[in-house]
Amino acid sequence: MRIALPLKGKASQIFAGPVFDAEKQSAIIPIRHMKFDFEAEKIDPKFYLNAELASAYFASLSIFLTYGEDLVIDTARYHRDFLTDPVLKQRVTSLIGQEALHSKLHEELNDTFKQVDLPVGIFRYLAEIVFDYGFNRLPQPMKLSLMAGIEHFTAVLSEYMMNHEEIFFDSQDEKQRAIWMWHMLEESEHKDIAYDVFQSLSNNYALRIAGFFPALITILLLISVASVFVPFYRKPSNLVSLSYWKDVPRSFGLLFGLKRGVYGSSWMHIFDYLRPSFHPNDYDTSAFLDYYKERLLHPETGVLTPYFTKEFTPVLKS
Ligand SMILES: [Fe+2]
Ligand SMILES: [Fe+2]
Repeated sequence: MRIALPLKGKASQIFAGPVFDAEKQSAIIPIRHMKFDFEAEKIDPKFYLNAELASAYFASLSIFLTYGEDLVIDTARYHRDFLTDPVLKQRVTSLIGQEALHSKLHEELNDTFKQVDLPVGIFRYLAEIVFDYGFNRLPQPMKLSLMAGIEHFTAVLSEYMMNHEEIFFDSQDEKQRAIWMWHMLEESEHKDIAYDVFQSLSNNYALRIAGFFPALITILLLISVASVFVPFYRKPSNLVSLSYWKDVPRSFGLLFGLKRGVYGSSWMHIFDYLRPSFHPNDYDTSAFLDYYKERLLHPETGVLTPYFTKEFTPVLKS
């Protein structure tokens, strides 16, 4: 035991993450309200580059993500009380507000997906099993780590999407374009908040990594497996459709291909989370954020302007 103690001390030094520095944290962000009023007849089931299976993945993600967002909201609320830095507390309130609106408006989109024969009820039932009997019962420190892990994956996704703006303009479905662009903008805006809370309250490397893997398995594997059933549920004739089976490798490449795929081309960013000194802001997206705020929210030409209703910024409480 005596020999192990110095080793343990050394290991904890090597694997300690960056200490949270209140002076260097990102600026406060607003909570934006949107009103999309989705219409079933305008929903494009091949929204993602006209690829049926890849589009099914994003529809499935829309359904399952709301449960992840609700976990982020509950976990952030619980841990906010333990924070001492007032600005970080204020930022956590923004995170909670942004995620609450993502969850609410994706639920509206998911309700519309029901009308175009997507298996929303089945997926909600499965997600409730996973979250009610699994993730939501984890001890709070593990939920804190899982929250940071989920937010890492949405940060990776948003960075990819911001780098490939053209994807959103391939389909004529303006409302799916708007909700995803709004969501990706805000995921990138708040990408460091959960991590800063984790570092501020825990800074335990092993615990951080323990939250990374369930997020990885859920977002990349389980949601992908679930989405395989969507095209057949929506249109059983896809089972014997040559054009559908031709779409499968293309869809797979769009998600996991090492050159162009959402996750395949982002694998270095994904696994960089395992680096002990990792911080979300090692990936500087500030130029993209400035560009997208103008592109999406310009009072006359913004993609989101027809749907934007109001915004507010949480007050600083000492
Ligand atoms: Fe979100
Ligand atoms: Fe988020």
